[in-house]
Amino acid sequence: MSNNILNLLNQHRSIRQFTDQPLTDEEVTTLVTAAQHAATSTFAQQYSIISITDPAIKQELGDITGHHWLEKSGHYFMLVADQHRNLKIAEATHADTTILRSFDKFLASTFDVAIAAEAIVTAGESMGLGSTIMGSILNHSQRVITLLNLPELTFPLLGIAIGHPAEQPGLKPRLPQPLMHFSNQYALPDDFDSQLASYDTTTADYYAHRNSHLKNTTFSQHIVQELQRDPKLRAELLQVIKQQGFNIDL
Ligand SMILES: Cc1cc2nc3c(=O)[nH]c(=O)nc-3n(C[C@H](O)[C@H](O)[C@H](O)COP(=O)(O)O)c2cc1C
Repeated sequence: MSNNILNLLNQHRSIRQFTDQPLTDEEVTTLVTAAQHAATSTFAQQYSIISITDPAIKQELGDITGHHWLEKSGHYFMLVADQHRNLKIAEATHADTTILRSFDKFLASTFDVAIAAEAIVTAGESMGLGSTIMGSILNHSQRVITLLNLPELTFPLLGIAIGHPAEQPGLKPRLPQPLMHFSNQYALPDDFDSQLASYDTTTADYYAHRNSHLKNTTFSQHIVQELQRDPKLRAELLQVIKQQGFNIDL
């Protein structure tokens, strides 16, 4: 089956090199509008978007993420979990606001941010733009909080570098569906090993022949390599989330 939207979704690739052309104000507003129309848990609209235009802030985000190429993007969005605005709304009525600090509400904010991020990525692609979602802002979340002056009950979750693409990466092959789509119950197939081996061959071929950053690796090796990341890198995460006023034990 094929239509314009399916074709767009199935052609997604993250873009990390951009031309010098910045996004226009109209393009930025269009992307934020698309994000706003995404589904939002309990219609609470519990996230905010901060456009980062200050080169000094971009540079610090480059340091935090290790992705200095973000400074060359046509625009940078920071997506923030946000129960602060709803706290203000509720406090004005003297309502009990305890639940806004709960793990459930923190999770709801993360869902809202993730769905809004995908809307920005897809809307951007429909406009000829390319982007990369960045979880690497979590490397030093307290620095991001200080940098952006984030108040109580907010937390920075994802950045998005977006702009006019200056690269055309190949399509990254995804898992065979029998390894990730089950019927009624979780059930990896009996031929898991052979299906994985086949996918490893496909991914090895992709990594060996893609346009840049050629690698000699497979999906399985990639998963294991990811485990070698310094566990101290994001060790502060839980503490910082709590410092922002979320009581995730609630
Ligand atoms: C939540 C999330 C966080 C991500 N963080 C980063 C990041 O910090 N740096 C980066 O270069 N790519 C990041 N990516 C992009 C992934 O690496 C990319 O989507 C994946 O390798 C698949 O490649 P594709 O998007 O080109 O299909 C992130 C993607 C998601 C969904």
